[in-house]
Amino acid sequence: MKLTGLAHGLASLAMVAATQCVAAAAATSVNVPAATTKPANAVAAPGDFVGFGFEMAFLNDYANDFSVNLMNAVGSRVSLPLTVRLGGTSNDLLTYDASQTAVKVCVSGDCPIGSAASYILGPSFFDGFDIFTNFSFSVQAPLSPTLNISNAVNYVRLCLDHVPTDRLTAIAIGNEPDLYAGQFKVTYNVSDYVAGVTTMRSSLTEELGLTGQIFELMDIAYLADSTNTAKITIQNAFNLGVNAPRTATAAAVHWYQVWDKITTLDDMQAYLMNHSATVGNFSAGSPQDIAYLAANYPKVKYVFSETGTGLVSPLQIQGSLGAALFYADFQLYAMTQGAKRVDGTMRPAANHSLWVPDASAAPANPGPQVRAPFYTLPFVADFIGQTPGNVIEVALNSDVLTAYASYSPSTGLLSKVALINLQAWAEGVSTGARGSVTFSVPAPSAATVSATVRRLTAAAGCQALGYDYAGPAQNITWAGEQWSYAIDNGKGHMVAGVSATETVAVVNGAVQVTVLDSEAVIVSF
Ligand SMILES: *[C@@H]1O[C@H](CO)[C@@H](O)[C@H](O)[C@H]1NC(C)=O
Ligand SMILES: *[C@@H]1O[C@H](CO)[C@@H](O)[C@H](O)[C@H]1NC(C)=O
Ligand SMILES: *[C@@H]1O[C@H](CO)[C@@H](O)[C@H](O)[C@H]1NC(C)=O
Ligand SMILES: *[C@@H]1O[C@H](CO)[C@@H](O)[C@H](O)[C@H]1NC(C)=O
Ligand SMILES: *[C@@H]1O[C@H](CO)[C@@H](O)[C@H](O)[C@H]1NC(C)=O
Ligand SMILES: *[C@@H]1O[C@H](CO)[C@@H](O)[C@H](O)[C@H]1NC(C)=O
Ligand SMILES: *[C@@H]1O[C@H](CO)[C@@H](O)[C@H](O)[C@H]1NC(C)=O
Repeated sequence: MKLTGLAHGLASLAMVAATQCVAAAAATSVNVPAATTKPANAVAAPGDFVGFGFEMAFLNDYANDFSVNLMNAVGSRVSLPLTVRLGGTSNDLLTYDASQTAVKVCVSGDCPIGSAASYILGPSFFDGFDIFTNFSFSVQAPLSPTLNISNAVNYVRLCLDHVPTDRLTAIAIGNEPDLYAGQFKVTYNVSDYVAGVTTMRSSLTEELGLTGQIFELMDIAYLADSTNTAKITIQNAFNLGVNAPRTATAAAVHWYQVWDKITTLDDMQAYLMNHSATVGNFSAGSPQDIAYLAANYPKVKYVFSETGTGLVSPLQIQGSLGAALFYADFQLYAMTQGAKRVDGTMRPAANHSLWVPDASAAPANPGPQVRAPFYTLPFVADFIGQTPGNVIEVALNSDVLTAYASYSPSTGLLSKVALINLQAWAEGVSTGARGSVTFSVPAPSAATVSATVRRLTAAAGCQALGYDYAGPAQNITWAGEQWSYAIDNGKGHMVAGVSATETVAVVNGAVQVTVLDSEAVIVSF
């Protein structure tokens, strides 16, 4: 399996190499103008910001020790239990058959490994929850233009039999209603959505005896402005009373950075490893909706409940270190803008997956394997840490260089700085030598004598696919640690036996930290 993947990967790299030439970074020295004490507009980092996401139909593929080991490696870095969002397109199309012995049967659509398919679940499906005792769940009541209330109530009831109340993050109602008109070939606007949610929520609340703020609303596919009042957007739906009983805990949106198929390193730089592109995408709706909720529904969290790099690009784009660097930049940016959680979404067949739990989608997408985007999660979790700080972006005004600062909640002093160098460099593809940027980061106080530096890195650069898929030449590590199915079932190990933590001295009130092109670091004071 690994050899097939490796041969495929190398063939694609060779093909890309013939046509690509990416310029080296121009700037080699950059000042990071971080305040040394907490700025008033820094936001509290949520301890449970890092989330996981499984497409509903594949819960049982993920229910193994390999997945739990990887998830514990992230969860043990922070203080709050992390959420798994179980949902997606397949969740709106499911039905339940109490007499079925199979976990699930795929009956129509994108069978057997797709998300746009109808699955009939049997009772054993729900055993899939039981291994994830360290994690909370957000489950989804199926919604569609035609409501099947008994089916939805029955499904959620069976989920709650396996997810205790103290581990229930939310009950979402429906998935991507902004796509229903096309998906179900009906007319469907925000009024239809609000009516559907209202009916579904009443039945769920009554039949399951639900109390408190428990519902997750929207789960829209696209960010959009709300000037067309018929559109299914957060503001239009909330203005029409979708949260009239004020029982929502979250308003959720989805995010796929690159919808189109891209294959070249130049495109990867332009559309994926590009902070300005991410900020441009974000500005299509997020700041407006975050401000709207804060002003009108302050208890409703803005979350990215389904996210990925894209859906139709090869692993060199979606399953590589570059994807992980994009994902780290996206998550930290979203956190500093007021988003409360980002769920890292997966499906065994999807190239954007953080890991592939089994061989169910082989040979097209072999597994079990850890994939590069997984590394974003321990990186972001370590930036948050056991005692979450207050975080803010430090503007560097660059497409490819970003910095995020975190301030100690007790002293208010600068405690960590994440530096991400998104300049794309890939071994065997880029023509020039790998460049680097030296960042000058201010020390928080005159008493600070040194800082530690940990790196998210790969010698092969931004198209490194990690050990499981591509072997030792494409290793990826975070602070010297590697995660692999083949080596230790996802438990994680230090490649050189010890954590790779460098110490740098403060000189003239600052530390100088060199970050390679296609690399990220966390500087800790
Ligand atoms: C839950 O997490 C703790 C702390 O990371 C770990 O020690 C424990 O083994 C985990 N339990 C399970 C069932 O994974
Ligand atoms: C509703 O779902 C049940 C299964 O839970 C199914 O048997 C029934 O046919 C569905 N009803 C409609 C109208 O689709
Ligand atoms: C949604 O469409 C219906 C007609 O199908 C219309 O009556 C209603 O006004 C529309 N809602 C909005 C908010 O435009
Ligand atoms: C981001 O912008 C690009 C280019 O305009 C677009 O193709 C992509 O779909 C956008 N992604 C998101 C999440 O809005
Ligand atoms: C990054 O994206 C912005 C906005 O789409 C674009 O103007 C810029 O050229 C891109 N930068 C790179 C390095 O491709
Ligand atoms: C997933 O990645 C593989 C390997 O790079 C590629 O052959 C395949 O086309 C990709 N799948 C999709 C749906 O883009
Ligand atoms: C890559 O990872 C493998 C597995 O942990 C290890 O044996 C090998 O030494 C690593 N290679 C390098 C260059 O670190």
